[in-house]
Parts: sequence; structure tokens; C-alpha cells
Amino acid sequence: MADKFDYDVVVIGAGPGGYVAAIRAAQLGLKTACVESRETLGGTCLNVGCIPSKALLHASELFHEASSGAMEKFGVKVKGAELDLDAMHAEKHKAVGELTGGIEFLFKKNKITWLKGHAAFTGPNSLEVDGKNVTAKDIVIATGSNVAPLPGVDVDNDGGIVVDSTGALNLPKVPNHLVVIGGGVIGLELGSVWGRLGANVTVVEYLDQILPGMDGGVRKEAAKIFKKQGFAMKMSTKVTGVHAKGKKAHVKVEPAKGGDSEVIEADAVLVCIGRRPNTQGLNLEAAGLKTNDRGQVEMDHRMQTSVPSIWAIGDVAPGLMLAHRAEDEGVAVAENIAGLTGIVNHDLIPGVVYTHPEIASVGKTEEELKEAGIEYKVGNFPFLANSRAKTNRDTDGFVKILADAKSDRVLGAHIISSLAGTMIAQIAQAMEFGTTSEDIAYTCHAHPTHSEAIKEAAMAVMGKPIHM
Ligand code: FAD
Ligand code: NAI
Repeated sequence: MADKFDYDVVVIGAGPGGYVAAIRAAQLGLKTACVESRETLGGTCLNVGCIPSKALLHASELFHEASSGAMEKFGVKVKGAELDLDAMHAEKHKAVGELTGGIEFLFKKNKITWLKGHAAFTGPNSLEVDGKNVTAKDIVIATGSNVAPLPGVDVDNDGGIVVDSTGALNLPKVPNHLVVIGGGVIGLELGSVWGRLGANVTVVEYLDQILPGMDGGVRKEAAKIFKKQGFAMKMSTKVTGVHAKGKKAHVKVEPAKGGDSEVIEADAVLVCIGRRPNTQGLNLEAAGLKTNDRGQVEMDHRMQTSVPSIWAIGDVAPGLMLAHRAEDEGVAVAENIAGLTGIVNHDLIPGVVYTHPEIASVGKTEEELKEAGIEYKVGNFPFLANSRAKTNRDTDGFVKILADAKSDRVLGAHIISSLAGTMIAQIAQAMEFGTTSEDIAYTCHAHPTHSEAIKEAAMAVMGKPIHM
């Protein structure tokens, strides 16, 4: 296929956006290479993100269940449960290794060339990869994102006590007191891990509520649940400095709107105040591209940038910084490059926080509907009234469905439940097909399941749930 170019497609970055784009491009018959500077494929997600965090969330939940006596009421007594943190980390590393190795296998299977090294543009169709020139008809920027620094706070992931998410995935021992700066997804997930393993967790959040961007009702309920789990929450609070002194760190905080400061002593500090796109060293100017004021590479609905031979997907481009969004864009961008029609419905990308309970959402929040002046109806159903959740003694949370007041079309859904991450897929798919709340209400759901709460919330939109 490629004639005057070395490749039809070169993808920069082998995260869930880039590796998926490379595989799809190769499946479509394009001669494909992927540049990745890490030692292993899979990007942030597989190496230092989704996968290791979920491995620790799963393992820490097992430990918590075994050690907290939570199973005794079910007649299961566990004596002498002990934490072997090294074994927990080892099992996590094993899972990461299996999955990153799996991508390497898929690259070989699909005849994708892995160009190991750092890519920098030399023109709209050319890159330098560690001193070598590489040309391609189309180039996909899938360079992802990195931790946003907190000015004045030095992170040391190599044995230090002030860490970012990468360091917090590898703490060698359970801190007595963990201060989490930022009450977003990473803070709550990794705070949960270390909290379950025995740390006292304090979350310091600049805004007046955790989980910005999520539905207001969900944010309120989630805060209650995390407080019940023992998290200390310092909302509307800003960090003005962090000083590590030997084995302790002093976190200086003050009210966001000004006032008296205080110092919180911590054994570890996790800085997680967001992520920023990776464009450093890419030499975008040589390709005729520049970033927007948020440092992102802008693309259109086809994922094409202002330079026709260059495309951008995933965390480096505007949109939700989520692995499944990057993956879907990876498929779509390859299809567009191959002359097909690749589409991603950015309005229906589910989001899941993998705490206990999980928090999942898709579509619009109530606040977004109000702001857009859209009239809507709400259906709520609590897990306290769901038979399976009651039987399992797992009643935290609810399902909330938002539907258009006139057409009844479902506009958003928000779930707090131990199974929320799995349950949200049903609603995302139904919404993709333009479902109404009535469609969901009259769909038969197996009994007894947590999913019946979705049906009941849909019935509640019309004011007629059975079990409430
Ligand atoms: P990335 O995964 O960041 O991959 C980009 C790759 O490009 C990297 O490997 C990088 O080394 C490489 N690269 C960058 N520049 C160059 C260059 N110039 N040359 C060569 N290579 C380069 N999302 C979820 O959906 N679910 C989760 O559960 C989840 N958990 C997370 C937990 C944590 C702790 C973190 C940090 C993130 C989590 N995320 C999660 C977010 C998710 O990891 C990202 O949204 C996703 O990885 C973005 O994919 P990407 O392909 O755009 O970029
Ligand atoms: P985030 O954007 O989710 O949360 C950052 C939080 O820090 C916000 O609540 C913000 O108000 C707060 N903040 C910002 N500056 C602050 C300051 N100076 N002091 C105190 N608080 C401050 O970012 P986070 O948690 O770092 O995660 C980054 C991204 O990674 C997420 O947005 C998400 O896209 C992705 N991710 C997704 C996961 C999932 O899907 N389960 C899991 C982990 C990460």
C-alpha cells in the first residue's frame, strides 16, 4: 500500500487510543507502525492507570471483607486475616504484565511495527523517532496525558512520601495517615485502596463537593457514603504547601476563600488534581499544528486536526479522559483514515468510579439539563427497596433516571451501587437506541437482580414504581 511513504499510518502512543487505532488500521489492510517510548505497550491505562488501580481495588476489598468482620453476619468467620502487601503488589504486576504482553502479541498478530522511542514531528507526514526519520501518509497523535503538577509541591515516586497516582499504586507500606489532595476519581479510588488496608484518609478538595462534573445528587450521596466509610473530608480547602520532613509530610491548608491556615501531618500525600495532555517534545510546530489554551490538540468529529494528514484521539484531545473513549476513537480514526465512516457518540460515554459502592453515569446530569433549559422528569429508586441488594446487605445507593418531560426519551442515568459499573452499560445501550423511560419500565428484568432497580427507577419517572 504505502509507496512514497514508509507506512500508511503511524500512531504515536500505544495507550488504549493508540494501540486500538493501530490494530484497527492493520485489520483494514493499512501498513501500520506505532511509536511508543515506554518499555511496555498499553499506555497509562495498562501500566499505571486503570489496570493496576483496579487490581488494588479488588485485592484491598478482599482484605477488607476478610479482616473487618463484615462477613460474620452471614455466618462466615475469618480469623487472623493478614495483609501481605508485597504479594498484593506482585499479583497486580502480574496482571499488568499479562495485559501489556497481550497487546504485544496482538501487534505481532496484526503485523504492526512497534517503533520503540520518542516521536517528534519533522513535517506533516514525517517524524523523527530517536534519530531515525519515519514517514507516513497519515499520523495519529495518541500521546495521552500525564499528572498535573500542584505548583510548589514536589512529587517523589521513588520512595518519597509525596506521590502522584503512579507512586500511590506502589506504596511499600500502608501509611498511617494518607492525605489526598483532590477529591476526584483518582483520590477516591486510591484513597479507598489505602483506607481499606488500614490508612486513615483525609481528602482535601478545593471545591465545596467531591467528584466535579457528576450529577449533584450523586455527589451528595457519595460524600455521605465515603464519610461513613471513615474518610475525613475537607471541602472548600486549598493546599498552600507540602513539606516532606523525613517520614512525615506537613500539608498546609487554608479555606479556599481565605482564612486561617492549618497544618495536617501525614505519612503519605497523594497529589491528584487532574491530568494534562502530553505534547511536550512532539514538535507540533514542525507539522503546522499548535495546542489550544488547555494544551490539547484540537480535532473535528472525524478526529482529524487542522492538518489533513494528522489526527488526534484520546486524552491528548478535548473530551473525557477515559480509556473507553480513547479506544472508541481509536477504532473510528482508523476507519476514517481507511475511507470508511468512523463515528463516536461523545454524548453517551459512560463514566465509572470503581469505589465501593461504584458510581456510574451516562448522559446528562440534572444540573446540565437545568442549564440548557430542558424540561425533564426524574425517577429515583433506592437500593434499600431492591430485594437482591437487601438480601446481600448491600443497600447503599440508588438509580436515578432523567427523561425528557415531553418525549420521555432518557437523557441521563446515574447509579450508585456495588454493581453500578456493569449496570450502566444497559442504559448506555438503550440510550444509543433512543430509549424512553417507558421502554425500560416495560422491559422484563430478571429477579432478583440489582438491575431491577433500573426498571423501577424508569417506572418512577412515570410515578409508578412497584416496590416503593
Ligand atoms: P495513554 O494511555 O496516556 O497512552 C499514551 C502513550 O503515549 C503513553 O504510553 C506514552 O508513553 C506514549 N507517548 C506519549 N508521547 C509520546 C511520544 N512523543 N513518542 C512516543 N510515545 C509517546 N480510565 C478509565 O476509563 N477507567 C479507569 O478505570 C481508569 N483508571 C485510571 C486510573 C489512574 C490511576 C489513571 C492515572 C488513569 C485512569 N484512567 C481510567 C484514565 C485512562 O488511563 C486514560 O484515559 C487513558 O489511558 C487514555 O488513553 P490514551 O491512549 O489517550 O493515552
Ligand atoms: P479529577 O479531575 O477527577 O479530580 C481532581 C480533583 O482535584 C477535582 O475535584 C478538583 O476540584 C480538585 N482540585 C484541583 N486543584 C486542586 C487543588 N489545588 N487543591 C485541592 N483540590 C484540587 O482528576 P484526577 O482524580 O486526578 O483524575 C484524572 C483523570 O483520570 C480523571 O478526570 C479521569 O478522567 C481519569 N481517571 C478515570 C478513572 C475512572 O474512570 N475510574 C479512574 C482514575 C482516573
